[in-house]
Order: sequence, then C-alpha cells, then structure tokens
Amino acid sequence: MKIPLFALLLALTFSLLAFAQDGDDDSCFADDPDPVPSAPPAPAPSSSPPSPPSNGTSTTISPAAEAALIAALKTIAPATALEPCKDAAQAPGQCSSASQAAGPILRSFQKYTIESVAEKAAVVSLMVFETAEFKYQRNVFPGRPGQGTRNMQMPDFNKKYATSIEELTPILTPLSYNINATLDALVKNPDYDFGSAAWFLRNECDEGTQTALKKSDDGTMDAAWEMYLRKCVNIGIEEGAEIPEERKKYWIAAKEALKG
Ligand SMILES: *[C@@H]1O[C@H](CO)[C@@H](O)[C@H](O)[C@H]1NC(C)=O
Ligand SMILES: *[C@@H]1O[C@H](CO)[C@@H](O)[C@H](O)[C@H]1NC(C)=O
Repeated sequence: MKIPLFALLLALTFSLLAFAQDGDDDSCFADDPDPVPSAPPAPAPSSSPPSPPSNGTSTTISPAAEAALIAALKTIAPATALEPCKDAAQAPGQCSSASQAAGPILRSFQKYTIESVAEKAAVVSLMVFETAEFKYQRNVFPGRPGQGTRNMQMPDFNKKYATSIEELTPILTPLSYNINATLDALVKNPDYDFGSAAWFLRNECDEGTQTALKKSDDGTMDAAWEMYLRKCVNIGIEEGAEIPEERKKYWIAAKEALKG
C-alpha cells in the first residue's frame, strides 16, 4: 500500500502533538527542516551489534522470532520492506528497514517485559506512526531540539530515559548535560533508539493503562489502546473525539500482524 505524501505530512504534524505538553507551536512546515544533525547516522544494526545487554539471560533473540517480526513490520509499515531503506529528504541517514529494526525492538520487549499482543501492537503502531514508518529519528516539523528517538518523545522524557541507561551515565553528569547530546547518544544506538517506546509504556504510563494492555483480549484490546493514547501518550485528542484514522490504521495492522 502506498502512503500519499499528504498523509505522511499529516502524520508528522500529529507527531507534534504527541508528547507535547505546551501547545505553543503552529509553525509546522514553514520552518527550516532539521538542521544538519551533529551525530552521524546510526550504522546498520546488522553489521554492528549493539553494546552487550546488561542481563545476558534475558536478551537472546531467536532467529525465528526476529524473522517473524521482520515479516510483521513489512505488512504493518510497507515502507520498511525496502532494502536498503529510503531516507526522507528532510532526514538523511535516519531511515531504518524492518530487518534493521526487528532485533532492537525485540530486545526492548524483553528488557521492558512487553509481552501481550496489545502491548506489542501499541508500541509498534506508535513508532511507525510517529516516524512515518521509521524514516525519522529526530523531530523535523518544526525541528524541535532534543525531541526524537523512534517514539518521537519530548526532551524531558529523553532525559529520563537516558538516565535509566547505565552506559549513558557519563554524558548525563550535571555539567555536561545537554538535550542535543542526549538525543545524539540515544539515536546512535539502535537498541536505545528503538527502545524508547517500550521504556515509555513501562515507566511513564499509569498502572491502569499498563494493566489494561497487559490483560486485554480480542474484545478489550481496542479500549486498552485508546486508554494508552489518551491517558499516557497524551496525543492531544479531546475527550469524545475520535482517534485519527492514520493511527487506527497502524494499530489495526499491528494487532493483526503481531498476533502470532
Ligand atoms: C536477568 O536474569 C535473571 C536470571 O535469569 C532473571 O531472573 C531476571 O529476571 C533478569 N532480569 C531482567 C531485568 O530481565
Ligand atoms: C540544540 O541544538 C539547537 C539547534 O542546533 C540549538 O539551537 C540549541 O541551542 C541546542 N541546545 C543546547 C542545549 O545545546
């Protein structure tokens, strides 16, 4: 399925709302796109395995699980089927294919115990929506410094997330802390880059939302997902208003493909 450019731009404007606490920005497309990133693009995960996991027993990914997720990602987000992936003009070096993303996503599921279909589908559908199918690691419209990783979270969350990662402690000392350096460090490592959505669900969502996603079945999954978007991700949709079609589309595809 081909996604019209308009839909992508629309999707990216919704990204502005996601995680935004201040609604002060209407400048959308007029601004200069993302300035030249100070960090080089992440190396292909397949050729450079990420740093060793802190808990060896919990991070072994079976080739079968990885193959299954690659296939699922390709149906959820068809743009990720391209090898190599194709960058968006405004985001050179930021795209990721399904086969590059699957390992990091599976490790994030293990690290943050994302186990139910609803949890997995919520996290994956959020990421593909926020990044226009893994084309962006950094906020481009309007180019808000420090906003990014694959769930496109705001700088404050990136700070909390980075603080939770032991290997990043050196860049987070009070004297050198900087939102840009933090985001650079997070997007450079595919495990950190693709791990933020699972971290966010497990650490920033209220207990009720987490439980709803964890315990949901076919009949209650949609309600749990809506709770996740409205109460936790806080996408700025008014009470009673519908969840945007573009988000629903990815959710429906994700819960189907990840049933497995
Ligand atoms: C790390 O491994 C131990 C030993 O198998 C296990 O009990 C524990 O739950 C793991 N920790 C995490 C965070 O996965
Ligand atoms: C982060 O980068 C932006 C854009 O390059 C710059 O305007 C801003 O001052 C930087 N912030 C910090 C804290 O260095």
